[in-house]
Amino acid sequence: MNRTLVICKPDAVERGLAGEIVARLERKRLRLVAAELRLLDRATAARHYAEHEGKPFYEGLLAFITRSPVMLLVVEGPPETWRIVRALMGATDPADAAPGTIRGDLAIETTENLVHGSDSAASAAREIALFFPALAG
Ligand code: RTP
Ligand code: MG
Repeated sequence: MNRTLVICKPDAVERGLAGEIVARLERKRLRLVAAELRLLDRATAARHYAEHEGKPFYEGLLAFITRSPVMLLVVEGPPETWRIVRALMGATDPADAAPGTIRGDLAIETTENLVHGSDSAASAAREIALFFPALAG
């Protein structure tokens, strides 16, 4: 089986939508391997979003993702599970996200788009190791 990392972002937890997001993943037949509510520190958030360092939205993104607890999830499914999660999430900008997706149904702004999912198999491995080192390997 194949694993990927999902983050229910601070806006999702604040709005009481973490359960809705978990339910959508489970209804798709993805299986929960780990789930933890955690307040991210800046250093961990910076490692997670290192690819965006220097971009205009980077500082705002770090402030957002560290402002209140996130729900970290590791989910398991068939090969390329990360692609299944990305499809359920919808496009980064909720204005482009199709109805039926998490962002398409529940979000309205790019800066508060509810959910993160690893964007490749390599990202999934890196992010699982970052947040759940005991599961790495
Ligand atoms: P994520 O990493 O959070 O799962 O989102 P993503 O792959 O769909 O999008 P990505 O390009 O990795 O961007 C990471 C997050 O940065 C914020 N963002 N803001 N203002 C902007 O132009 C802008 N672009 C990206 C979003 O919150 C996005 O989810
Ligand atoms: Mg991304």
